[in-house]
Amino acid sequence: MRAPSTPDTPSSVVPLTKEHRLSRLPHRPHFLIYGHYDVQPPEPFELWKSPPFEPRIEGRSLFARGSCDNKGQNFAHLKAVESYLKTGTELPCDLTFVIEGEEEVGSKHLENFLTANRDDLKCAAVVISDTGMPDLDHPALTYSLRGIIAFEVKLHGPSRDLHSGLYGGTVDNPAMALCRMLAQLHDKKGRVAVPGFYDDVAPLSAYERKQMKRFPITESNYRKLLGVPKLFGEAGYTFVEQRSARPTVEINGLTSGYQGAGSKTIIPAWASAKLTFRLVPNQSPAKVRQAITKRLRALCPPTVRMELEAGHGGEPYLVSPTGDFAQAALRTLRQAFDREPIIMREGGSIPIVSQFKKILKADSILLGLGLPDDNAHSPNEKFNLDCFEKGMRMGALLWPELAKA
Ligand code: BES
Ligand code: MN
Repeated sequence: MRAPSTPDTPSSVVPLTKEHRLSRLPHRPHFLIYGHYDVQPPEPFELWKSPPFEPRIEGRSLFARGSCDNKGQNFAHLKAVESYLKTGTELPCDLTFVIEGEEEVGSKHLENFLTANRDDLKCAAVVISDTGMPDLDHPALTYSLRGIIAFEVKLHGPSRDLHSGLYGGTVDNPAMALCRMLAQLHDKKGRVAVPGFYDDVAPLSAYERKQMKRFPITESNYRKLLGVPKLFGEAGYTFVEQRSARPTVEINGLTSGYQGAGSKTIIPAWASAKLTFRLVPNQSPAKVRQAITKRLRALCPPTVRMELEAGHGGEPYLVSPTGDFAQAALRTLRQAFDREPIIMREGGSIPIVSQFKKILKADSILLGLGLPDDNAHSPNEKFNLDCFEKGMRMGALLWPELAKA
């Protein structure tokens, strides 16, 4: 039997019915709390110390796929609101939780839902805990996220795998061709070698660069945390700038030829790569996508046939950290963590954030509870239980602060 197909078109998005609507009092501010319950693929399973979907607590860590990114962080907000309800404490504002299941693939359908329900979802701001902080001593308000665009490139060579002894030297090997192409996506300075790619990049102000120097992780600790012998990145920028305020290209997956044990002497019939580019404020995903497509077509040799598939995309985000809500959020962090909070840019992407701004005209207040060693998108993802506890305090203290901001 065929599985029922999922509705996919904007017209399938139904506005909220009367029963779904919460009666809202006109004088109370309304905030959304956004998060996601979908997760990145848990593979490779063999690297997990315990099954990814059976949460396990060890010390102050809860291990599971999605524990940090993003269920644990959402749960902190739910528990905080629950404490208001259980103690009969009146919330100073109306709240709507918007927890979706497509964040990790670009939030395509939620965008339609926002449009269809823009009146009901009208709000003063959106609160999101789906980012990070450098450590428990530095709670953070994030004021910028990178955007993203994804591609899948597939090169087709011979009509079947060929004996590499019999035919090697006479046909192009698609895996070799793909490596040659991909290697040309960086120049010698570690910049993305796509004509026009940097055209709209907003330069970093001297002031912001100075502030970024105060980021509380040293380069050598950062390097050790990631387990690399040396850092790599765009020349002329610090690692803090490179990871959050400069655009990049990455190969996320690379597949071709024989993957089993031992050797197999073939020229594979095809080779493919999954690529993502991170974008920074002022870059337009549509415009950059065109430039990249053009570049890949130009790089593709005539000896293979290229198939190029466009994947998800999301715009970069930047909001002033000096606004009233941002200041209220910083006061909340100070109280909840009993530490001086920092403001920072993050390199990850939350595609719907720019749509909250466009469709609902609402800024997002990004109050992340993730730690650098939480292994997001990686085996043995965890959520720190101290972050969870402080996060619940943050969630409880936040609403009075935001409501009066
Ligand atoms: N929670 C992350 C985004 C994030 C993490 C931002 C840490 C800042 C700091 C989110 O779930 C995520 O991973 N998003 C994807 C989006 C993409 C697949 C469309 C990303 O950034 O890769
Ligand atoms: Mn994620």
